[in-house]
Amino acid sequence: MNRRYLTTPIYYATGDPHLGHAYTTVLADTLARYYRQTGAEVRFLTGTDEHGQKMQEAAAKRDMTPIELADQMAESFEAAWKDLNISFDRFLRTSEPEHIGVVSTVLERLWAKGQIYDDVYSGWYCVQEERYWTEREVGAEHLCPDCKRPVEFVEEKNYFFRMSDYQERLIQHIEDHPGWIVPGTRRNEILGFLKQPLQDLSISRPKSRLAWGVTLPFDPDHVCYVWVDALINYVTASGLLDPDSGPDQPGFTDQGNSWWPASLHIMGKDIITTHAVYWPTLLMAADLPLPKQILAHGWWIMEDEKMAKSVGNVVDPLALREDYGTDGVRWYLLRDMPTGSDASYTPERFHARYDELANVLGNLASRAISMIVKYRDGIIPEAAGDGLEADIASTLSAVTGHMDALRVHDAMATSMDLARTANGYVDRREPWSQAKDPSGAEDLDETLASLARVLAVLTALFLPVTPQKMTDLAGRLGLKSVPTLDQARSISLGGLRVEKGAPLFPRVDR
Ligand code: MSP
Repeated sequence: MNRRYLTTPIYYATGDPHLGHAYTTVLADTLARYYRQTGAEVRFLTGTDEHGQKMQEAAAKRDMTPIELADQMAESFEAAWKDLNISFDRFLRTSEPEHIGVVSTVLERLWAKGQIYDDVYSGWYCVQEERYWTEREVGAEHLCPDCKRPVEFVEEKNYFFRMSDYQERLIQHIEDHPGWIVPGTRRNEILGFLKQPLQDLSISRPKSRLAWGVTLPFDPDHVCYVWVDALINYVTASGLLDPDSGPDQPGFTDQGNSWWPASLHIMGKDIITTHAVYWPTLLMAADLPLPKQILAHGWWIMEDEKMAKSVGNVVDPLALREDYGTDGVRWYLLRDMPTGSDASYTPERFHARYDELANVLGNLASRAISMIVKYRDGIIPEAAGDGLEADIASTLSAVTGHMDALRVHDAMATSMDLARTANGYVDRREPWSQAKDPSGAEDLDETLASLARVLAVLTALFLPVTPQKMTDLAGRLGLKSVPTLDQARSISLGGLRVEKGAPLFPRVDR
């Protein structure tokens, strides 16, 4: 059985979801739906990252305890994902006992294997990024090189993971598996980063500074560094490890049918280093298999700046949904951003992308169904319907190729081109003239059957990105459900009764 385990990052529970978070989640959902369509058994994980200093400070600012804020935000993320029709199987919160148990299990294992040691750390810390920087990196101004905020000087006992021991093995892994990090630009970036000697990784924070986290199983005065805690979520949700394994048996309980290793970790390029360096080296040290692939996408930009809560320039995906519908938002996100590159959000571009959906796909559906109603009393003619055969075949193979290569935007563009071609076919065939011609009945049957068939294929192609609308359209074509891609290849709809209904993608005035 083909099994796929897909993950999004777990989002910081410090604020509400914005369009950037929605992009990652919709991208993952579209791939999950595509894999299901090809017959795979899929596990799709998302969730919230709830520990760490940033969380503690965000809660204090709102006069809340960290868990109160985490409860509120986990609910907000989960509700947003339901509104955006995200088909996740598991919503993991890092404050869950099961996850805390698994983090302890992993740490015990690393400790028992001598992969962790303690030392005194003195250096600079950025709370926003939850990471240490060197004197050289923060410069004379003592600003975080990433977010430009002032950093704090800290001197404290820390536990370190022997990450440097795994540098060569990691480079070898990346070189042996050219498609492990997608796109290639990110792979090169990581290989470039690995040209410098890799430092060991601080994996703890003293409770005197930060109480909100997973207590280290070998030192009750320290909590686990939030990034180590967070990355382990992928293993927790796979069911591989026993959360109750105590200090006497710091081993792993392989539950045989676990989902580990993940097929694909999806994230933004901001967190590629943690996923492509910290995470695989931790897994190597724990003797666990590495995820099979990592996809790092680009950023949504607002007027030259990354859209971010901390910048205050975020767009609410749920508000857009009120005007353009869930599928309108999903379509825009995937259609407008080349998977892997940055894209600028503007209301004008959003509107233009929606118009494409309405004017090309929506218009095709409405024309074709209206003509079947008008000329054939709503019954799809029993004709070969192979007027667009070559276009359908080449589109199906191109789209499958793009999706398998994680070029989702290309898959969307190619699918839309098929709808464009079908509109051209209507214009060329002029069914209204065929209907007037007493000897044109067979030609008209063929035109209408071909249009019904291409619409059925389009429901399969667009299902991963616009699932509600495609289910609706399949129903209007008289189908019980959207065909799989394989079924779509040879589907015939002769004899089915169509139903007109309201426009699939209603006009939105702006
Ligand atoms: N909690 C960590 C992830 C831990 S995973 C083990 C984190 N959370 S986050 O809330 O900051 O979300 C980061 C992710 O949200 C990014 O990697 C990216 O997937 C998405 N995005 C946040 N802002 C974004 C844009 N402006 N554009 C595109 N995606 C963005 O980092």
